[in-house]
Amino acid sequence: MSSTAVLGCAWGDEAKAKIVDVLAAEADYIIRFQGGNNAGHTIKVNGEKYVFHLIPAGILYPEKKCVLGPGVVIDPFELISEIKNLKAKGINFKNRFFIDPRAQLVLPLHRELDGRTEADNNQTKIGTTKRGIGPCYADAISRVGIRFGDLYEKEYLVERITNLFHHHDIPQNNVGSMVENLIEAGKILKPFLKQVIYLWAKSDKENLLFEGAQGSLLDVTFGSYPFVTSSHTIAGGIAIGSGFPKPTDRIVGVYKSYFTRVGEGPFPTELMDETGEKIRVKGNEYGATTGRPRRCGWFDAVAASYTAMVNGLDEVALTLLDVLSGLDTLKICVSYRLNGEKVEEFPCSSRNLARVEPEYIELPGWKEDISQVTEFHQLPENAQQYVFTIEELLGKKITMISVGADRKQTIFRKGLTAARNA
Ligand code: IMP
Repeated sequence: MSSTAVLGCAWGDEAKAKIVDVLAAEADYIIRFQGGNNAGHTIKVNGEKYVFHLIPAGILYPEKKCVLGPGVVIDPFELISEIKNLKAKGINFKNRFFIDPRAQLVLPLHRELDGRTEADNNQTKIGTTKRGIGPCYADAISRVGIRFGDLYEKEYLVERITNLFHHHDIPQNNVGSMVENLIEAGKILKPFLKQVIYLWAKSDKENLLFEGAQGSLLDVTFGSYPFVTSSHTIAGGIAIGSGFPKPTDRIVGVYKSYFTRVGEGPFPTELMDETGEKIRVKGNEYGATTGRPRRCGWFDAVAASYTAMVNGLDEVALTLLDVLSGLDTLKICVSYRLNGEKVEEFPCSSRNLARVEPEYIELPGWKEDISQVTEFHQLPENAQQYVFTIEELLGKKITMISVGADRKQTIFRKGLTAARNA
């Protein structure tokens, strides 16, 4: 048995799904362990575009099994609609899709609470996706949440929902219809119910692939708090969110070749100029879930080294390198100054992160379109140099480089795979 994780190592949207899709070819199970439909993954296979919010991208391989682990928060109505859309494209779910009964449910109430908090001028605006993710995780911790497995015990479900509304001091006018809708959703999803730890106990020879959502800088503990999501996006979140208790053998960190952020919060290398706009347009930097334009900036090696450390990365995948073609000069942030002093550690305070002054090195750009390049040595010299520089700054091998949305647009740097068990 082997286990691999693909984790976003910045503020999300690192094009992880593309890397998951490529590595899924070697996996038996593809597992989501955190987050919910705040995530948006887009994959192109043979020109056809697929967008995922909850279902692991591995579902595109007919023989692979996909799992939503106990750490995922599930909007059952959204999940049903995602399944329906994928089924319409010919994807089969029978005996290959599993949902853990411990997974918490995102209810319409959570969306409402999320929207309300975001609109409240007396609260810090986070710029959430308004999918109810934060309120759902908060309810889980407050022990008032509803779990997927609760859908199969009507009396208990009524009791739990009544309890939940009472907890939030919200009038309970429509509990009856909500319960009916949930029970209906539960019937549709019942074939997928499985305590997934029993799958792991029986998986001697199988390869597990953990698919991260969001990114390390959005981790609720190690990210730019409070401008974070509400789950554990880092490698440390895998065991608790999947029930697979062993350390992951191979941890692949995914970074974009530049940085982006959507929502509020500090972003030291943000570009507010024409270059930022160029990157946004060329990289199609608009959220797959909300359509919001993403903030764009230079690669931040200070933040990137921090997340490489937080996740104990074995190797790195660098995505969207093709987007940087055509820029005369590229910058990489190599250090921060705060109040004139060099900062040795990545600031844990968002106030300080907002105040740092990034210090850059400059590298020459390249003009060529690299989107059809399949071998590293075919890249323009300056593009190779850009990759070597990031590699050196992170102290990690860059084993995969993505130069386009299609599966085929991936450069594998042979002989560099750092899998501990390889
Ligand atoms: P929430 O996860 O909807 O609560 O949003 C919290 C923060 O995480 C906001 O800044 C969102 O923009 C950000 N966020 C959540 N999901 C994603 C994602 O999939 N990609 C990028 N940012 C995300």
